[in-house]
Amino acid sequence: MLQGQRILLIVAGGIAAYKCLDLIRRLRERGASVRCVLTRAGEQFVTPLSLAALSEHPVHRDLFSLTEESEMGHIQLSREADLVLVAPATANILAKMAVGLGDDLASTLLLAASAPVMVAPAMNVRMWEHPGTQANLATLEGRGIRRVGPAEGAMACNEYGMGRMAEVDDILAAIEAFFGEAGRLTGRRALVTSGPTHEPIDPVRYIANRSSGKQGHAIAAALSRLGAAVTLVTGPTHESDPPGVTVVRVQSATDMLAACQTALPVDVAVCAAAVADWRVAEPSSGKIKKTAGGKPPILELAENPDILTTLSATGIRRPRLVVGFAAETEQVVENAREKRSRKGCDWIVANDVSAVTGTFGGDENQIYLITADGPQATEAWPTLSKHEVAQRLAERIANALETAR
Ligand code: CTP
Repeated sequence: MLQGQRILLIVAGGIAAYKCLDLIRRLRERGASVRCVLTRAGEQFVTPLSLAALSEHPVHRDLFSLTEESEMGHIQLSREADLVLVAPATANILAKMAVGLGDDLASTLLLAASAPVMVAPAMNVRMWEHPGTQANLATLEGRGIRRVGPAEGAMACNEYGMGRMAEVDDILAAIEAFFGEAGRLTGRRALVTSGPTHEPIDPVRYIANRSSGKQGHAIAAALSRLGAAVTLVTGPTHESDPPGVTVVRVQSATDMLAACQTALPVDVAVCAAAVADWRVAEPSSGKIKKTAGGKPPILELAENPDILTTLSATGIRRPRLVVGFAAETEQVVENAREKRSRKGCDWIVANDVSAVTGTFGGDENQIYLITADGPQATEAWPTLSKHEVAQRLAERIANALETAR
């Protein structure tokens, strides 16, 4: 049931817009209220009158309409929604959302919206596969926007492939799952580490690794979507801050450990950072000159503190659930099992980071979740986007904390 949920439905211009009529009816049957915004292109596919009749509310179309503004201002429209749903979400509206354009009512509302946003993409298969569309989706998912579909099938343009809008049943299921999941971690505190660390050699040089921070940031966003108060301690990355998350930026492993200890106590800690194992024992305070001594410098390394091991052994401040990652290039599961027991964490997420897998820096991940000793406690997950891995992991964490209550 969706009793009392307020859904702002943005209908963009695609042939799938006709499915929205059924969607509105079914949402209302479940107790939700629906307000509709129709784009200019959307008007070519469905009439404002149909949307108004089914939603029993006036349909909003203009950014600067005296009649519409006097009834309900456009900013208020987005504030009074529990979920903003864009269906169909065309390649064009996804692009506008990704760059933050506000040139009509729909895009302006999406800029102003504080409620979670879900998109149901619908477009021709070539538009769907275009790197521009895929990059825009990755940006949007990185900001925590939820997606349902598209599906594969025959298209109105006589082509076959990915790009059909998800069926109404699937959109309803995604909305119900969203409202059912939201709040599962309310009142819980989570700590996530992400990205690489930079270990200084001198003021201009450092030792680092190829971690992008994508997986760790996606986990922080997913835990936050479930209602947890999340602190994300991150090394240097190009990822944007996940909405609603407290972000602490650090450079070195030592700083990362200090920031994690400050964030305690938490219910769950997820160590996704690729922490440098070694630092330069005595970084130079001045830039090391090439001419000094005539020979390349020899760097003496010291071992960094192990954050995961430290958090796993924090005594009474130990998080109830500590999740580590194992970046492996061979014997992935065996090495990860050994790492889990050596580091004392509860779960370990193992992945193959060999160059051929493209995991480091890529958008997808194939992981093994190891939750206890023995082969039965190892699950192989299919290849998923890092956002999907994060979502599933956050749900598993919510299950585990609920059981431990
Ligand atoms: N980790 C950590 N602090 C470190 C090193 C690693 O918290 N100084 C954490 C990582 O965040 C990850 C887990 O330990 O959750 C495993 O990291 P990984 O790089 O796979 O393992 P290492 O300990 O570095 O072992 P090895 O390099 O021998 O595989």
